[in-house]
Amino acid sequence: MLRALIAGTKKPANGASSPDAPPVLKTRLPAVGEGLAMLVDPVRFQKLCHEAVGDAFTLSIFGLPLVLVQGPEAIARFSSADDDELDLITAYQKLLGKLLGEELFQPIPRPMLRELSGQSVRKRSAALARDAANFLEAKMRGPQGEIDALRLCSELVLEMTCRFVCGDTLSRERIAEIASLFEVLESDYSVVGLFLPIETPALRRRVQARERLIAVFEEEIQRAVASIDGLEDGYLRTVIDSMLGPDPSRASRSQLRSAAVAIMGVVFGAHTNTANSLALSLLDVLERPALEAELRDERARVLAGDRPIDLGALCQMPALLRAINESMRMKGGGVLWRYTHSPFRIGAYEIPAKSFVGISMSLLHQDPAVYPRPERYEPERYAAMNTDDFQSPPLKDKTYGVWGIGKHVCPGRGVAYTIIASALTVLLDRCALSVTAAPKRWHPLVTAGIARPIGAFRVRWARRD
Ligand code: HEM
Repeated sequence: MLRALIAGTKKPANGASSPDAPPVLKTRLPAVGEGLAMLVDPVRFQKLCHEAVGDAFTLSIFGLPLVLVQGPEAIARFSSADDDELDLITAYQKLLGKLLGEELFQPIPRPMLRELSGQSVRKRSAALARDAANFLEAKMRGPQGEIDALRLCSELVLEMTCRFVCGDTLSRERIAEIASLFEVLESDYSVVGLFLPIETPALRRRVQARERLIAVFEEEIQRAVASIDGLEDGYLRTVIDSMLGPDPSRASRSQLRSAAVAIMGVVFGAHTNTANSLALSLLDVLERPALEAELRDERARVLAGDRPIDLGALCQMPALLRAINESMRMKGGGVLWRYTHSPFRIGAYEIPAKSFVGISMSLLHQDPAVYPRPERYEPERYAAMNTDDFQSPPLKDKTYGVWGIGKHVCPGRGVAYTIIASALTVLLDRCALSVTAAPKRWHPLVTAGIARPIGAFRVRWARRD
């Protein structure tokens, strides 16, 4: 059906554009065909279009022209381009600003980026695992029950993320309020909402939720500033030091708001993709008893003698990390978007100025030269590949696109692995779980990230102890 929709290409409408401009896709349903196809299955549609019309083409989604590129040349150019050539911030401000507010997309100061990686994550990893254990203890009371696994993963990841970003003093009630506001902010996060020029009631609710979230994070920052001498090192402390000036207690309203937006932005960036990766990985494990047994043996070996869960221990669980990587490879990637301020050449094509250019990470994951039988779930494939501490192909290879490629590769990668791996470890260790309902499908995204589940995911659980 998607293949039949593609009718070929036509010349760009603007006669003045370069002769090397990418061709414009023509569909058999003019004006709506591309939009509908992207709603149905963006990855497959993009793949079919590249096969039919080449490595670069322009398509129009509900009137908005988007250039899609693929191939080694495009990967190399995306990876090495500077922000003034391929601009991430402007792209996301223009594409998602209506839904999420343009101010959410800002360059992140270097000290704050550093707080998301390496040593800081290692230092906080044991606390993250304890947060997971405490959360599950409170959530799954009694000897057994049945639970909405999507909600569980979402709330668990939100709690772990908030504690990582804001520190341990955040109260349960506060986190519950943040969770309910994020639920509104992240709802209806759809292609339709992105591209249609209408203001729906859902959009208005989202704006209200966003303003309340900013107010909540402003209050948390002010609370932290009031007891700054006792404030531990971490993301919140670094935001205060980097963004509130020499005397944080005298910060201006706009400094305070920018700092709150920066906190909200990182929680937003961290939450949904990590929560969906956790749910996805959990489902893939529960559907494969042999894998589940392998992970149980691995856990028992690594955590023998009551060794606490931390990043060091998790990195000694290759089977677990490979399983997570394979779930994310199969359902993750989406499209990275950039904006051109001036014409930008990729191989034989010249992308005009003021274009949105996208490159699909999901298509990288389907390359049989890197991932033989790419449609199969085969976590052991990473054992035969060159991988890093997380059992993932190294970022420099640009073959594993879950974290993006180039200068804006996800800075929260270590936090994400720590959250997903420790949450899975705690959950699988504590309970015997069986799936009672699984999502009907996972819908790929037209932006970067992990596919979104469609349909319920429920599990029956029974305490092991
Ligand atoms: C499985 C979970 C995650 C996935 C799949 C993911 C994926 C990505 C991708 C693909 C990008 C690059 C987007 C682009 O180039 O257009 C990105 C950027 C980013 N991610 Fe993540 N991410 C995850 C978790 C996290 C976490 C846990 C954090 C923070 C603790 C985080 C913070 C960020 C930030 C701040 C950026 C923007 C970086 C920049 O502008 O240079 N992410 N993420």
